[in-house]
Amino acid sequence: MFGRSSKVALLQKVPLFRALSRAQLEQIARLADELDVPAGKRLATAGETGLELFVIVDGSATVRAGRGRTSRLGPGEFFGEMSLVDGGPRSATVEAATDMKLLVVGRREFWELLNAAPPLALKIMSTLSHRVRDAEASVSA
Ligand code: CMP
Repeated sequence: MFGRSSKVALLQKVPLFRALSRAQLEQIARLADELDVPAGKRLATAGETGLELFVIVDGSATVRAGRGRTSRLGPGEFFGEMSLVDGGPRSATVEAATDMKLLVVGRREFWELLNAAPPLALKIMSTLSHRVRDAEASVSA
């Protein structure tokens, strides 16, 4: 088992959380669970209900969106935010490309997280806009 302080140490290594205060990191440590998964594990399935946000601590994941497009996400990146924001189904299928260490945040905790750490909310919004533009570009290509 990991204590709260070792979880904060883990969070400090994730670039996504770099601008946050110790108090904000403590709150995130309270809201997020650690999860280790083996390579090949499916973490989200396009079209299905999604109930968690995943932040990658170690390892990488493959994202398969529409039209056979794939992208790779690595440490410090996150996925699963779209379904949490609008309650809609997963927009893509995501699988562990390697063994991974993740932080998992449930739906209710996600909103608490955004309240606790506004700089994080901005980063998530910015990434989400980028992904939507990307998806639109692929539709009109
Ligand atoms: P969600 O739709 O909840 O579940 C699948 C996730 O894949 C999605 O949230 C995003 O986090 C991620 N995703 C979708 N499209 C892209 C993309 N073009 N690039 C990177 N990640 C993406």
